[in-house]
Amino acid sequence: MPTQSPRPTRKAVIPVAGMGTRFLPATKAVPKELLPVVDRPALQYIVEEAARAGLGEVLMVTGRGKAGIEDFFDRHPELETALEKKGDEGRLAAVHESTEVAQVHFVRQGEARGLGHAVLQAAAFVGDEPFAVLLGDDIIDARDHLLEQMLAVQAEKGGSVVALLDVGAENIDKYGAVAVEPGGSEDVVAITGMVEKPPADEAPSTLAIIGRYVLAPEVFDVLRETPPGRGGEIQLTDAMATLIERGDPMHGVVFSGRRYDTGDRLDYLKAVVRLASEREDLGPDFRAWLAEFVADLPGTGASQA
Ligand code: G1P
Repeated sequence: MPTQSPRPTRKAVIPVAGMGTRFLPATKAVPKELLPVVDRPALQYIVEEAARAGLGEVLMVTGRGKAGIEDFFDRHPELETALEKKGDEGRLAAVHESTEVAQVHFVRQGEARGLGHAVLQAAAFVGDEPFAVLLGDDIIDARDHLLEQMLAVQAEKGGSVVALLDVGAENIDKYGAVAVEPGGSEDVVAITGMVEKPPADEAPSTLAIIGRYVLAPEVFDVLRETPPGRGGEIQLTDAMATLIERGDPMHGVVFSGRRYDTGDRLDYLKAVVRLASEREDLGPDFRAWLAEFVADLPGTGASQA
């Protein structure tokens, strides 16, 4: 297949309409994307990641109960004036950060009909260019440049690019799983097929799609024709599988860096602890406390001494 003429990727789409059932009851009234990881919402890390990769135009696909997200990325003049009056420069800068990091737009999904359907709501915003999709549950450590690498692969090879992680046979049924061409380089592979959340014994490999995509705009036409798949939802994975069958290039970047799945309660706790302990401001005190706390935990050995 011919590669498409190079069009730079400038836009990012972040679906935020999911109900967050794994975090009930917290998410009954607070969007899961606004749950704090240390002192900033999980979603802010995602928007910052997009901006760092040069994607300054961000569209959030929202739904019912997500108005707090719009407030978060909007200005808050009363709060800013109050902080200015107090001379609290630090907090004022923190409040500004979320409004200045990117140009954030919103569209409503209306009905929860799946990730593919959510992405389709971005068609008018994206137009005829490749675009990135970032899923809010995955935080990629700012020191690892996954999205930048994916954009470079897309610019070189055309078509679409997804981020992959080997999650092992025991976890593959929670993800989109891919089949890859043998003999690629270690971290960039050609994808020959994909299937959404297969049982382990039917999975084409243990390589899972994690929440980063750089997609060719052709995916929109395919999504319009994609029937509901697994779970009765319109699956992005199914649309990408169709692109592959049509012969459109699809590559995977195999990620080996630090990823935090903040949609999972245990991983969320790990993310908070790790990121807090690495912070310049909180880290020294927090690490000292943590070391003592761990030493006192029953069963760690240290407490038996
Ligand atoms: C979605 C995608 C799946 C992908 C996963 C990554 O599933 O449908 O292909 O592997 O995100 O997090 P979800 O987690 O929304 O069920």
